[in-house]
Amino acid sequence: MKQAAAKHITIGIGGGISAYRTLELIRLLKKSGASVTVAPTKAALHFVTELSLETLSQSACLCHPLQTNNGQISHIEEAYRTDLIVIAPATCDLIAKMAHGFADEILLQTLLSFQGPVLIAPAMETHMWQHPATQANIEILRNRGIQIIGPDSGDLASGRQGLGRMASVDAIFEHILAMLTPKDLAGIQALVTAGPTIESLDPIRFLSNHSSGKMGVALAKALAQRGAMVHLVHGPMSVTPPRLANIRTYPIRSANDMLGQVLELVDHVQLAICCAAVADYRPTQVVQEKIKKSQENTTLALVKNPDILRTLGQLSPKPFLVGFAAETSDLEKNAWQKCLEKSCDLLCANLITKANPVFGADENQILVFDQNGLILHIENQSKDRVAHLILDTVRQRLVF
Ligand code: PMT
Repeated sequence: MKQAAAKHITIGIGGGISAYRTLELIRLLKKSGASVTVAPTKAALHFVTELSLETLSQSACLCHPLQTNNGQISHIEEAYRTDLIVIAPATCDLIAKMAHGFADEILLQTLLSFQGPVLIAPAMETHMWQHPATQANIEILRNRGIQIIGPDSGDLASGRQGLGRMASVDAIFEHILAMLTPKDLAGIQALVTAGPTIESLDPIRFLSNHSSGKMGVALAKALAQRGAMVHLVHGPMSVTPPRLANIRTYPIRSANDMLGQVLELVDHVQLAICCAAVADYRPTQVVQEKIKKSQENTTLALVKNPDILRTLGQLSPKPFLVGFAAETSDLEKNAWQKCLEKSCDLLCANLITKANPVFGADENQILVFDQNGLILHIENQSKDRVAHLILDTVRQRLVF
């Protein structure tokens, strides 16, 4: 499922200093395959130029209320063509005009002519945001089904700090992808494990691995975009878990912590995806003081960690179970064996090589197995896209 490709998005821009950040949003949307038309207000064009907007969107802007194109009324044609209208930044003036049906900008005319989904990213000084008039207008828009992201707290145009900063471009982009994705996993509760586990040796040192959490987070995001409620149990990751309303995060450190958290959740989920790189062993004991460098050589006594995936595979009833396998050789043989031994419904195997490190990388290629053998080869591509392709197979097989 490719969410933004073949979609048309209208980006409305209000007259606020954060308009410059919307340029990056347009770039991300274009890169993801969407077509974009930008409709800046008159005030917005004091902050960003028509030339930048048209260059980035590769399309003519909608700037004038009386604009036509080859005899067609531009705002009407745009409203029929577009899949989603996003307004970033949404200033308090624009919000007020939207709430009360004003039509003195081509953006507002397009909004009034449009019957599909709308997302706004408010941005203004704290007191303007908190003013009862603005809050009453926001309430009107919310009741009309308009989705609202932010504002965040942080640096404001005045040099002060506070609530009113436009949500991050990444968060707006993720929200747009979620809005464009069909909700084919709505109603599902899903558990995802991600990232490494950390096994302490002493107060300073630990055993771990290079998992960044990117693959697990991509799966959690894809599930959430498709309407599932996601429980993301994760070790210390180098990526930030997405801030989506239907993702709950449970940070843990060790394999034992992860097992405990997973067992607390598993009765409530229909799908479990174990993508974490769980440490197979932990030190036999955690030393309370820093271990001193007294000898030339030393040995570490290790004990086996619980196998979380295997434990889930032995439950009855068990959720639809997806395991992962990271192999450095004999990928097909080892991965299928893991699928059988750990009673997985599906197992996603990634081959770790120098050319394809997978750990920490933005891309992955995967072989998917079921209990009968290899069923799918997912070519090398972004982990976000790989996650959706895995979920396409899950969706075909998951009964709910
Ligand atoms: O996080 P990234 O940088 O994006 O990298 C992604 C990834 C390489 C970590 C991911 O794609 C992946 O392959 N995760 C599984 C890594 C792993 O631990 O593989 P394994 O072959 O050792 O384990 C097989 C399965 O058993 C995995 O589902 C694992 O979660 C599970 N397991 C392993 C050991 C253990 N004690 N408990 C487990 O549940």
